[in-house]
Amino acid sequence: MTDTKKSIHGEWSSRFAFILAATGSAVGLGNIWKFPYITGENGGGAFVIVYLLCVLLIGIPIMMAETMLGRRSRQNPINTMITLADEAGADKNWHYLGWMGVIAGFLILSYYSVIAGWASAYVLKAFTGSFFGADAVAIKGLFDGFMASPVQLIFWHTLFMLATMLVVVRGVNTGLEKAVRFLMPCLFVLLMLLVAYAMTFDDYYDKGIKFLFTPDFSKLTANGVLTAMGHAFFTLSLGMGAIMIYGSYLPKNVSIAKTVYLIAGTDTAVALLAGIAIFPIVFAAGLEPAAGPGLIFQTLPIAFGNMTGGWLFGILFFVMLVFAALSSSISLIEPAVAWLIENKDMSRQQACIWSGSITWLLGLGTVFSFNVWSEFKIFDRTIFQLLDYLTANLMLPIGGFCIAVFAGWIMKQQHTEHELDMPDALSYKVWRFLICYVSPAAVFLVFLHVVGVL
Ligand code: TRP
Repeated sequence: MTDTKKSIHGEWSSRFAFILAATGSAVGLGNIWKFPYITGENGGGAFVIVYLLCVLLIGIPIMMAETMLGRRSRQNPINTMITLADEAGADKNWHYLGWMGVIAGFLILSYYSVIAGWASAYVLKAFTGSFFGADAVAIKGLFDGFMASPVQLIFWHTLFMLATMLVVVRGVNTGLEKAVRFLMPCLFVLLMLLVAYAMTFDDYYDKGIKFLFTPDFSKLTANGVLTAMGHAFFTLSLGMGAIMIYGSYLPKNVSIAKTVYLIAGTDTAVALLAGIAIFPIVFAAGLEPAAGPGLIFQTLPIAFGNMTGGWLFGILFFVMLVFAALSSSISLIEPAVAWLIENKDMSRQQACIWSGSITWLLGLGTVFSFNVWSEFKIFDRTIFQLLDYLTANLMLPIGGFCIAVFAGWIMKQQHTEHELDMPDALSYKVWRFLICYVSPAAVFLVFLHVVGVL
């Protein structure tokens, strides 16, 4: 493998471009929509601590490994695993890891797009003044009414899928990179503003902040621990090849380690800021933290409806949320698109049409989970809940586990050392220890815990 190898799809124009794109992929609905509601469902503080530990001990080392695999092979995740397994003299079956990733991407995007559709619809609702002066009951009514309409949900899901494919079809440099350039900083500023607003509540500290940061481990179940770990993968976009494909567009001379710290740090900061902004509003409005996937849609509009300038901030916030979702959704489909182009001889356009249509169709399962099929349960879960559990809690951690084992035990040490190019020998040793022992063992133990062996 030569150092001059490039991806046929192009390359990021700079390290900064990669940081933007990878941060764009990491920061999304996971941080602002999912993190608050799963934290609410799992009792708060203790869940947050487990999540943070997972980011640190499992997420960051695996993110470095995944980026490294992609950059070394410069191909889609499936071919990456074939090439690198071959290089290491390992079994061919490693390419199933790439396959699982591509499938996980489809499944995640199918529901991700529906939720991003909700956010898009809320841009319009904010614009037309639907939140104006509304209390918690009115806002909940608005949300429930929206959920009850498959037609509306399908409309917004379709619109969001079209937007995603429109970006992806333009390719690495023109499409993906430009889209994330301006969005991330704006989102950050708006979140700070919401935090400042939340701080004006009397109970801001006593209820909101304490809920998030005071651990009560008696509230944390085995499944809660699994959800926290799964979310560490989900929020960092790990375990399915998204970061691998982005790594494959990464120029040679960039330090993977430093870049990964920055991305993971930003991602975590955005999630915590979202939590700090949302929980004070939840408690002040007398709402349930365990309200489920509707949580931010039932809380933030109350804030926008009652704060000065709330009309404008509401619009801006949901616009940013849609863009944050868009810069994530493109990374969920890019591995499949790259595979179709590389292996099936398709043009980028054809690849987008195929993969986009399949995802759209799958998304209907999630749309109906919130209305006509809400009583239809498999393993006690709606289709949406099942897809979420299957991908975030099972497929991503399993994918991450395999990536850790591959990077730590299968690849030649000199190759990983060369590719990671750490600033000093100690950092490499720490990474190696984490990737060989700590990360895989942690994932394994959490699974054992859930199965009830521990
Ligand atoms: N990380 C994104 C979020 O937090 C979602 C996402 C994008 C993702 N690409 C991914 C999740 C790949 C898992 C795998 O919203």
